[in-house]
Order: sequence, then C-alpha cells, then structure tokens
Amino acid sequence: MLRIDGVSRSFGGVYAVRDVSLGVAEGEAHGVIGPNGAGKSTLFNLITGHLAAERGTISFDGVRVDRMPPHRRAALGVSIVFQGARVFHGMTVRENVMVGAHSRTRAGFAAAALRLPRHRREEREIAERADRELARVGLTEWAGHPAGSLPFGRQRAMQLARALCAGPRLLLLDEPASGLRAGEREALAVLVEELRATGLTIMLIEHDVAFVARLVDRVTVLDLGRIIAQGTPERIRSEPAVVSAYLGEST
Ligand SMILES: Nc1ncnc2c1ncn2[C@@H]1O[C@H](COP(=O)(O)OP(=O)(O)O)[C@@H](O)[C@H]1O
Ligand SMILES: [Mg+2]
Repeated sequence: MLRIDGVSRSFGGVYAVRDVSLGVAEGEAHGVIGPNGAGKSTLFNLITGHLAAERGTISFDGVRVDRMPPHRRAALGVSIVFQGARVFHGMTVRENVMVGAHSRTRAGFAAAALRLPRHRREEREIAERADRELARVGLTEWAGHPAGSLPFGRQRAMQLARALCAGPRLLLLDEPASGLRAGEREALAVLVEELRATGLTIMLIEHDVAFVARLVDRVTVLDLGRIIAQGTPERIRSEPAVVSAYLGEST
C-alpha cells in the first residue's frame, strides 16, 4: 500500500531523514521507533505531505504522491494524528472531530477551524460521521462539551476520532501514548487493536518498545535519520544496534 524509496530530507544542511526505504502492506500495523531526533516525525510528515522530500519517491496504492499537497494525499486516504495536542479549545468535541472531514479539501481544514458557513446538509452529514467516530473512541457523551474541558487522555481519543473522520486507509499515529497514564495507555492500545481488526493500515511512532511490540507486525528503527534495523518486534528487541541506540540516549 505504501512504498517509500530512498527518501531524504534535511534542515539547514543536517539530514533529519536520510535515504529511507520501506514498504507497508495493506492491513499491516507498522511501528516506527528510535531515540528523540531520530527523524520519526519528519518521516511521517514526508508521508502526509506536510514536509516535502528532497530526494526519493513515495507511492500510495501504486500512485506517486510525493509531489502532492497534504489534502490530496488525505483524499487518497492518508490521515495523521500529530505529535502533541492540537485541540481547538473554543469548539465542541464534535466540532473538533468534524475538522478531520475537511482535511481532504484544500480550503476545508482552515475553513472548518474558522467555522466558516457551509452547506447545511453537508454539515449535518459530517456531524453524523463525527458522532460515529466519537462512538468508536468512546466519547459519545462528550460530543457537545467544549473540547478544552476534556481530560488529557480523552483529548487524545478525540484527535484519533478526528483522524478517523477523514476516512483513512492508512492511519499515522505519532506518539499517541505519550503523556498518558497507565489506564489511558491501555484504553488506547485496545482501540488501536480494534482499528487493526477492521483492516485499517496503521503506522505507529512510539517511544516505549514494549507498547509498540504488542500492537504491530513489523518495526522500523530509525537513528540519526537512517534505518538501523527492521523486522518483527521480537527480532528488533534483540538487535544490538537497537539496544545501543536506546542505551546511548540521555532521556
Ligand atoms: N521544521 C524543522 N526545522 C528544523 N529542524 C527540524 C525540523 N523538524 C525536525 N527537525 C530536526 O530534524 C531532526 C529529526 O526530528 P524529528 O523528525 O522531529 O525526530 P523524532 O520525531 O524522531 O524525535 C531533529 O534533529 C530535529 O531538530
Ligand atoms: Mg517526533
């Protein structure tokens, strides 16, 4: 489904992602791990189009997407939950989720965020879709509440619902478990397992190797922008290069 071939991206002459190649099959759950600054978020932004690749190609369903803007990739089914909170505090939980449906059009995301008037029927359909996704992540009772009133863990679930509201075929999750308490992490893991069971293809960046190992079929390990290991979670955990990359980290 996703084919990345020799992709590179630098900032100020320093490579954040360097000559990375990897493939993700339809229905696969693929973990991306590595120390801070390894290039994990940059790789995701290259896949979504929020950053442009300097070299290499990216194909989705056999179609070259590496020159497409983010909304065109979203329309093909590429959806992301960004690292860190992106909550529109002045809007309700439902409205926050509805924003996701508009990521597929050029004007949509900004217009939705600014609450520009739209066709009422379209608005109602999107609200219904948002409610279905809110039910999926267990937030039905919060739909009409201000997003800012949601506990932190539930804000993460809301962001997941927003990404799902875009109707993804490939869902990218950038450290969705960071900052969550144990119970919230467990709820998130169950949710990711449920999404996998529906056949959704998932890429998951995660710091905690044990957490990611449980949820994915294969893992790619990045360090200093390069792939240093790739394989099943069991294999990765015993890989010397992985152990040293993690042990060498100060956090
Ligand atoms: N927009 C940017 N401008 C400049 N440097 C960046 C930018 N985004 C990422 N970097 C740099 O690229 C490297 C990889 O960052 P990132 O992809 O965020 O790593 P990770 O997600 O693995 O922690 C880091 O050295 C970071 O400082
Ligand atoms: Mg990151």
